[in-house]
Amino acid sequence: MGKQDKIFEEGNVSGLPFSFNQEVTEVFEDMIDRSVPGYNTTLRIIQQQTKNHYIDGSNIYDLGCSLGASTSSLLNALNGRSKVIAIDNSESMVRACTERFSKYIKTGQANFLKEDISYSEILNASIVVINFVLQFLNIKEREELMQKIYRGLVPGGILILSEKVHFDSKKRTEEISNIHHSFKAANGYSKLEISSKRDSLEGVLVTETESQHLDRAKEIGFKVSTKLMSNLNFLTYKFQK
Ligand SMILES: C[S@@+](CC[C@H](N)C(=O)[O-])C[C@H]1O[C@@H](n2cnc3c(N)ncnc32)[C@H](O)[C@@H]1O
Repeated sequence: MGKQDKIFEEGNVSGLPFSFNQEVTEVFEDMIDRSVPGYNTTLRIIQQQTKNHYIDGSNIYDLGCSLGASTSSLLNALNGRSKVIAIDNSESMVRACTERFSKYIKTGQANFLKEDISYSEILNASIVVINFVLQFLNIKEREELMQKIYRGLVPGGILILSEKVHFDSKKRTEEISNIHHSFKAANGYSKLEISSKRDSLEGVLVTETESQHLDRAKEIGFKVSTKLMSNLNFLTYKFQK
């Protein structure tokens, strides 16, 4: 585990919108663990689903890999049977991964690319993971990326998608959001830290509803949608081609 996240301890002093810079990279593991309910279970589910759905000779992708937590789940499940192509557009994240996963890079089991996933090539894939990343793209980019993933999957291949969502009813969104803030407070974040991070994420992390995600996947052509996990306003889905 890296350093403890204290970025918003004094409020959003820089007044900057949130970005995955060096400062965030250094505390990211602590940040996501204390902020996303069920995050570690998501990683276990990715591992288990990869074991179940990997197709011999196919490619595996982790889009928006950050520090490679999902990549680790994929590598554990594959046990050397295929290469994981992990992509992120944050220079500091990719640099950290290149150090952490040097053993896997040397043996050809993993490849880390500093790229915008909107422009990445996805080919012959049986597993694509996009774990809490789509929410950072604009709506048009989401649509295009989902279409590209669909085209890049082999028949029977799966996309594992995790997202933060909001609800149709404003009242329910507020209620669940308050519970989420209590979850963060119980994990040691102060009220100031919670509200400053929320302000800094405004317009950067833009949520959709569960049905928006489901409708998009269906329209693109995914045959099966399976909810793998749901914790407050965080969901994990499996979409199968
Ligand atoms: C919440 S983190 C993802 C966590 C990670 N998938 C995991 O399972 O631990 C979001 C990541 O998406 C990356 N990201 C956001 N937009 C991106 C884009 N257009 N292309 C590539 N990476 C992007 C960010 O740099 C960040 O590292």
